[in-house]
Amino acid sequence: MSKSIINLQSAENQQTLTITPPNTGLSLQGTLQIPGDKSISHRALMLGAIAEGETIIEGLLLGEDPRSTADCFRAMGAKISPLNNEKVTVQGIGLGHLQEPSEVLEAGNSGTTMRLMLGLLASHPDRLFCVTGDASLRSRPMSRVIKPLQTMGAKIWGRNNNSLAPLAIQGQTLKPIHYHSPIASAQVKSCILLAGLMTEGKTTVTEPALSRDHSERMLQAFGATLDIDATTNSVTITGHPELTGQKVIVPGDISSAAFWLVAASIVEGAELLIENVGINPTRTGILEALEMMGANISLENERVITGEPVADLRVKATQLKACTIQGEIIPRLIDEVPILAVAALFAQGTTIIKDAAELRVKESDRLAVIASQLGKMGANITELPDGLEITGGKELNGAEVDSCGDHRIAMSLAIAALRAKGKTIINGAEAAAISYPEFVESLQAIALE
Ligand code: S3P
Repeated sequence: MSKSIINLQSAENQQTLTITPPNTGLSLQGTLQIPGDKSISHRALMLGAIAEGETIIEGLLLGEDPRSTADCFRAMGAKISPLNNEKVTVQGIGLGHLQEPSEVLEAGNSGTTMRLMLGLLASHPDRLFCVTGDASLRSRPMSRVIKPLQTMGAKIWGRNNNSLAPLAIQGQTLKPIHYHSPIASAQVKSCILLAGLMTEGKTTVTEPALSRDHSERMLQAFGATLDIDATTNSVTITGHPELTGQKVIVPGDISSAAFWLVAASIVEGAELLIENVGINPTRTGILEALEMMGANISLENERVITGEPVADLRVKATQLKACTIQGEIIPRLIDEVPILAVAALFAQGTTIIKDAAELRVKESDRLAVIASQLGKMGANITELPDGLEITGGKELNGAEVDSCGDHRIAMSLAIAALRAKGKTIINGAEAAAISYPEFVESLQAIALE
């Protein structure tokens, strides 16, 4: 029944998603399993690859991004079982033993793959590595990791004065540094910590606000020695630890759950239960923001699974109200701004999102793309230099919109379309497979006439 409301058409490598809610509105009900956390999936594959012995990963995200990571590390000697079921085995090759690949390493659309991997490649002496990615990734700034790595003694070349991929890396023996990062970025922090693994002595990263800490948790679980100073947002790693393969159970991705949290909040009468969601406090900015907006979300069955806190989230529709989102919360909801913008369209009042200029260098310029695509649906949304101003309450009309190749934009537009009048056509819907291959299937399962 829901296929008449939600229809996916594929032609070659492109997909168009058409959403036509019935005039009377649709209903959203059910229980959802969401895919594994993208950040944790990358880290489990990478640490598994460089540890001694076997790592078993359960619940791995089978999206395009982790596939890029797996392919890169296979090309450098790690044995990783096919990513065709959520249990994946990695035979590690041991710290310092990444092999010089005979081909260019392809990071695809994945900033996490490229930036984290650079820390490892730069610190493997006597090997040459070449890394590239798709058109989006080749336009994203790499100097934020290249500069601190160069301070450690790394030799890296790239386009645009060593700031853009393709990159060539001549591995070196690095020296430890204390890096004061100007941005709260887990990719920057993790890159330097991974370089610190292969560096004699203590390497420290201090960041202006706390970014996601999955690397710290997982590095410790694999046997690395970390010293964490929460008062200064500093992490110190001691070089040359013994890393041993582990069993990692990847929780569901709160960034994927966010689409359902907002969908069920804005569709009248909706109720959803989202099971097994990672609720690491460095990622729960979305829950706090939705709570400020008056959302009805409860956490059930809270537990800790292989070092990461997890819960089931129950969400019920409610009238949202506007709020201001800025400051230290931004890094803890950085990937959820597109879907928060959709929530704000249905909130009473004007929501302001600030301090989020980082969104301009994600898979797309998310501030520009959200404003332009939701604007086509009639949204009252203004782009700010570092954020968005969104006034809720204006009725949305179905329109032809585009993901601009960005997975989170594709899915955010689909959720907005659930509350629009008439048909919305989302071009570039295939982008969702980067982080959520089953997104449309799940939407069809819960959306009822
Ligand atoms: C990620 C960190 C964030 C986030 C990205 C995944 C990670 O990027 O936007 O989707 O896995 O470390 P930044 O560290 O650049 O903010």
